[in-house]
Amino acid sequence: MSRYICAYKFNIFNMKNNFVTNELEGKVAVITGAASGIGRATAALLYARGVSVVAEDYNPAVKEMAEEFPGMVTLVGDVTEEQTAKEVVDLAIKHFGKLDILVNNAGRIINKLVVDTTLEDWNLMLATNVTGAFLHSKEALKAMIPNKSGAIINIGSYACYFSFPTISAYSASKGALAQLTKTAALEGIEHGIRVNAIGVGDVVTNIINEHQENGRDFLAEHGKLAPIKRAAEPEEIAEIVSFLASERASFIVGSILMADGGISTIIQ
Ligand SMILES: NC(=O)c1ccc[n+]([C@@H]2O[C@H](COP(=O)([O-])OP(=O)(O)OC[C@H]3O[C@@H](n4cnc5c(N)ncnc54)[C@H](O)[C@@H]3O)[C@@H](O)[C@H]2O)c1
Repeated sequence: MSRYICAYKFNIFNMKNNFVTNELEGKVAVITGAASGIGRATAALLYARGVSVVAEDYNPAVKEMAEEFPGMVTLVGDVTEEQTAKEVVDLAIKHFGKLDILVNNAGRIINKLVVDTTLEDWNLMLATNVTGAFLHSKEALKAMIPNKSGAIINIGSYACYFSFPTISAYSASKGALAQLTKTAALEGIEHGIRVNAIGVGDVVTNIINEHQENGRDFLAEHGKLAPIKRAAEPEEIAEIVSFLASERASFIVGSILMADGGISTIIQ
């Protein structure tokens, strides 16, 4: 390859690289469940790419992110409460003047057979994994509609479509999240707002730590069932959020983008 072609390719690569890393600069994002796992990785990535981030979590540890990422605004709040959704959108507007991106990420899982699942378990899954997304989407849409642009990204699961024993409440909540995604997408696109979800497979995070010891090791091991033979790192999902928030995803509307190492190709 001639030196000229090498230099040309290098320049193209750099142009592309700059495009990817700068494309969200100046945008304003709210991220729920930002203190850990996928939410934290997303907050860090968007921040690094010039996004003004409001990080929300009911874990007070979220406050430490304001020190680690100067300028990041934090809110300690429960995603299931209407007041939290209003407050976090108000914070984005008060500090940064607008809202461009909402990432509905906060989530929990309970592993129990249907016969062992209590009404409390059921209500907790639905409230956290879908009602929280509904409340935040409602407030975000109200803020985005006058601007005629915006992106909402819901962190779904392969359980948006598929299930297995012990995850009835979780998969019901993620199935509902998929339908919320599609409906909000149909309503949002009229106003230039794209709503999508990511059908996430196993990711090494703290999500099952409250239920079992070495939860992260379990997820890393469980990920080997997928064709890719590993679980994802949270940063890999954060990249997809960044893409869906960007203009590169301008034609993606109401999708549940599967990011699961191929597991949904082999489970039904
Ligand atoms: N890790 C996986 O294997 C996996 C697989 C599929 C989908 N997901 C989804 O990814 C999302 C993020 O989970 P994660 O794996 O990063 O887990 P995680 O436990 O590391 O992070 C979840 C965060 O959400 C917060 N949160 C939970 N309930 C909340 C509430 N009521 N109000 C405010 N914050 C709350 C937690 O405090 C935590 O910081 C969830 O929606 C989860 O369902 C994860």
